[in-house]
Amino acid sequence: MKATVPLLESGGEALTTHFYKLLLDEHPEVQPLFNQAHQASGEQPRALANGVLMYAKHIDRLEALGPLVGQIINKHVALQVLPEH
Ligand code: HEM
Repeated sequence: MKATVPLLESGGEALTTHFYKLLLDEHPEVQPLFNQAHQASGEQPRALANGVLMYAKHIDRLEALGPLVGQIINKHVALQVLPEH
């Protein structure tokens, strides 16, 4: 996990941009959940890249993530993301 940090720092956003493109192309049924403006502005891929980077950096000290995890959980629960997703 720690070894991926430099890669995530330089290329994390490119990775998550590609991830969302695949996700939305291959699973169009989840598209209505997503705010298209957040994809277009790059906000969504940036948020995911940041989340993954923070996890990788603090994998041995998860309390350092502070409120990040709770915020992500609240977002998904509010948007009704389901276990099958
Ligand atoms: C490992 C699993 C996942 C991680 C780490 C993750 C991470 C994130 C992060 C960091 C955000 C941004 C939160 C914010 O803006 O405060 C987000 C938003 C979101 N996530 Fe996830 N997510 C995961 C799985 C999923 C799944 C399975 C779905 C459903 C298909 C999903 C749907 C969404 C939606 C709809 C948003 C809001 C997008 C918007 O603002 O338009 N996520 N996610």
